[in-house]
Amino acid sequence: MVIETVDITKYYGKKLGCRNVCISVDKGQIFGLLGPNGAGKSTFVKMLVGLIHPTSGKGFLLGKPIGDINTRKKIGYLPENFKYQEWMTGADLLSFHASLYKLDKRLSHERIEDVLHLVKLSGNERYKISTYSKGMQQRIGLACALLPEPDLLFLDEPTSALDPIGRKEVRDIMLELRSHGKTVLLNSHLLSEVETVCDSIAIINKGEIVKQGNTDEILEGKLVLEAVVEGINSSIINSLKKYDSELIINNNKITLSIESKDNVHEIACMIVENGGRLYGLTPRRESLENVFINLVEGGDQV
Ligand SMILES: Nc1ncnc2c1ncn2[C@@H]1O[C@H](COP(=O)(O)OP(=O)(O)OP(=O)(O)O)[C@@H](O)[C@H]1O
Ligand SMILES: [Mg+2]
Repeated sequence: MVIETVDITKYYGKKLGCRNVCISVDKGQIFGLLGPNGAGKSTFVKMLVGLIHPTSGKGFLLGKPIGDINTRKKIGYLPENFKYQEWMTGADLLSFHASLYKLDKRLSHERIEDVLHLVKLSGNERYKISTYSKGMQQRIGLACALLPEPDLLFLDEPTSALDPIGRKEVRDIMLELRSHGKTVLLNSHLLSEVETVCDSIAIINKGEIVKQGNTDEILEGKLVLEAVVEGINSSIINSLKKYDSELIINNNKITLSIESKDNVHEIACMIVENGGRLYGLTPRRESLENVFINLVEGGDQV
């Protein structure tokens, strides 16, 4: 296991950060930690990278207890909402981080070029960070995290300031790292991002993990069926209520939950037999959004 935690818990005084978090992440996985504001995602990651100490519990990274100095050299970390000194240029910042990682001079020059290229900032390193857009600031932060060619990368909401193209570019970087056997832990509340990129997911709410598993397991269960029907009438609606008493009708679209794909054919027959003209019938998996909203009651933890 690349990441393993056993009942890791953090209290800030009396205030709960997170409690009894147990996760295991295999090598070469992108693991998504998903949760609403204040759920405990950043607290958890800060404990793993050694910025704050757990109140209780244990954690291991790359087989070593958290805090191990040699392991830190193999870890990249992009904090949330970071602010770098604005008088520095991008190049200054990267050189500073390279020296923190104790990269040798020649290697650090090459690595800085590589990471600038990876995050699409080549040519901008000469300018002060104060002149960077929000998206560029997020990219330079990601470049710092990538400097040591990390085996394990922690990204705390890496795309919050990025436009859709920037988000896709960060997604592609994560996928590229995975293809080289690297492991990524991604903190996010962007459901579509987590759904598309993560191999496994843990959902955290009010400091505790409420569900975890591989992405397919998390999304398995009910299917959502969308039927496009002209001539919706009460007998169609009543017959479909047998499958889902809370079905939704919006103009000529009926949306209902079904147990399995086997129901699709009989539903098509039922609509037609009751006088409806069927133009479309599409089953899809329940979205991560539904799973998330059902598990998480919403609102900041106070
Ligand atoms: N330094 C601190 N002192 C006291 N309480 C804190 C501290 N840092 C975090 N907390 C509290 O711990 C809980 C978890 O916060 P955390 O920042 O880990 O959540 P998060 O899931 O990262 O939220 P967000 O999505 O808003 O970044 C919150 O109730 C927060 O108020
Ligand atoms: Mg956070």
